[in-house]
Amino acid sequence: MILPDDPKYAVKKVHVYVREIVDNELGFKQVSLSCPAKTKVYLFVSNEKMIVGCLVAESIKQAFRVLSEPGAVPSSGQDALQHHRAWRCSTEPEPAICGISRIWVFGPKRRKGIARHMVDTVRSTFMYGCYLSTNEIAFSDPTPDGKLFATKYCQTPNFLVYNFIYNN
Ligand code: COA
Repeated sequence: MILPDDPKYAVKKVHVYVREIVDNELGFKQVSLSCPAKTKVYLFVSNEKMIVGCLVAESIKQAFRVLSEPGAVPSSGQDALQHHRAWRCSTEPEPAICGISRIWVFGPKRRKGIARHMVDTVRSTFMYGCYLSTNEIAFSDPTPDGKLFATKYCQTPNFLVYNFIYNN
């Protein structure tokens, strides 16, 4: 875990790493970190001493619940992609504490529980002395992978999101 008060060289190195590796792989321009002084970065280091997972968490005050999508799932191609990209959420804000600004796991190491482990760690360390519930954490503008993960992790498709670009 890298905290804002850690030595400058460490904070700088990790932020460069996040920009160059994680943001690049997320495949689209992410919203820049609103307040780097309030972010905690978690790195998952493998037995081979490689960074194979990264999570950036920030303080937030509110988030919005993803609404379930009624209707059939388009079967293939661009439609399916659009379907997974798009989601709707409630216009009613709910109080929340921790925003997951970015979560990324190295391709060959996916589906081994690394993201789950990182989010568990955030929940127990983000706020001193308390274990955050899944109703107190939110995901920033989730990708299709992120949506599948969050639905499973929070045990509901109606998990909390924040930081999205509003599109009516
Ligand atoms: N498809 C379907 N279910 C998925 C999934 C996927 N791509 N990724 C995770 N899940 C669900 C599964 O139910 C999984 O449990 P299982 O493997 O026992 O079935 C559960 O979530 C836990 O997954 P976990 O192994 O902890 O996730 P991961 O380490 O593979 O990391 C991501 C998940 C999203 C971080 C990873 O796919 C990733 O880095 N994607 C690219 C970056 C990205 O899109 N980040 C999300 C930004 S919001």
